[in-house]
Amino acid sequence: MTPRAQPPATIRVELNDRGYDILVGPGLLAEAGRLIRPALKSPRAIVVTDATVADLHLPALAAAFTRAGIAHDAVVLPAGEATKDFSHLARLMDELLDRKLERSNALVALGGGVIGDLAGFAAAIALRGVDFVQIPTTLLAQVDSSVGGKTAINTRHGKNLVGAFYQPRLVLADCDVLKTLPRREVLAGYAEVVKYGIIGDADFFAWLESNGAKVIAGDPAALVHAVTVSCKAKARVVAQDEREAGLREALNFGHTFGHALEAETGFSDALLHGEAVAFGMALAARLSAARGLCPTGDCERVTRHLAACGLPTSFARLPQYTWSSAKLIEHMTRDKKVRDGRIAFVLTRGIGSAFTARDVPVADVAALLDREIAGPGR
Ligand code: NAD
Ligand code: GLY
Repeated sequence: MTPRAQPPATIRVELNDRGYDILVGPGLLAEAGRLIRPALKSPRAIVVTDATVADLHLPALAAAFTRAGIAHDAVVLPAGEATKDFSHLARLMDELLDRKLERSNALVALGGGVIGDLAGFAAAIALRGVDFVQIPTTLLAQVDSSVGGKTAINTRHGKNLVGAFYQPRLVLADCDVLKTLPRREVLAGYAEVVKYGIIGDADFFAWLESNGAKVIAGDPAALVHAVTVSCKAKARVVAQDEREAGLREALNFGHTFGHALEAETGFSDALLHGEAVAFGMALAARLSAARGLCPTGDCERVTRHLAACGLPTSFARLPQYTWSSAKLIEHMTRDKKVRDGRIAFVLTRGIGSAFTARDVPVADVAALLDREIAGPGR
């Protein structure tokens, strides 16, 4: 007898009439038509994807839509961060209108965070708002960017500076699609998984110390567990603080440093977003320890686990750049969390206990960075 497939794990993002489910499990792409149909106002969807994902996974999604009687069409954009800009938003909008998008139709974002952020923003503004569904195909998108409704594009002033909070109607996180994801991208997404442990779940961090290698290797049960725990954590925070008035800031642990590192490396392949977040989390833990907030042992565990996975935790991994604490701090002053000129740092009192601080003297951050830049590297 063929074993019955396990039903997907379902996580609810509790946002009243804008609440939605995140489904996590294997085999969801093949079932996507049946799963998405109840969330659609009309049986028509336009898929937005990138060229890499289109080659790998669009045929399966198209077949699933056909089986479920959903009329479908696709807009395929170039892969890569450069697609998250005004010119591609304009192209996407034209392509949607060329296809006679109607208000009752839905956009389906099939891809990583780039496609999810761009398609989500397009959905927010097309015809003053159409529904959208997220089918995240990177680990980063499954555990972070597809959940919570942050949509945006980049401008010459910086990343994610033009966008909207606009929630999807449904998120389908199919662990099987990650089988085609390059290992470096898996690792970058794994950094965001580790983040949930550090900011609020010491038991999950300990589980990752023992099982992280399985998650990264694509063990199905370990992946489903890691994605489910991560999405539950994010859903809980988003339900309490959708527009980042306070609590949601903790999700940016490692990001103040990370964004500065990304900006300094020109948002290039030299340092992927998740890699920058990993190094940023190591720096945030060290800043917390240097301020006497976080036990040194916890700080060392953070660095040890990230490094053991192969994620960057020191400037030694990026020898091709001439680092300067002043330049990194200059990037931090452009962060969206800056208030009255004060840079926000998410710090931690130990694994599982993050909070936002706006009283960290810039001189202390500069001193830490100078030590790290001069240091032998870990
Ligand atoms: P990405 O979308 O660029 O995907 C990374 C690469 O993997 C791309 O080349 C893509 O074509 C490829 N790819 C995607 N799925 C694949 C698969 N299954 N198999 C093979 N290749 C695949 O990058 P990302 O890391 O997913 O997302 C990064 C973006 O997410 C950034 O723009 C960042 O700002 C944004 N982000 C947004 C939020 C949010 O809350 N909205 C949170 C975190 C990050
Ligand atoms: N990735 C941070 C957030 O969604 O708030």
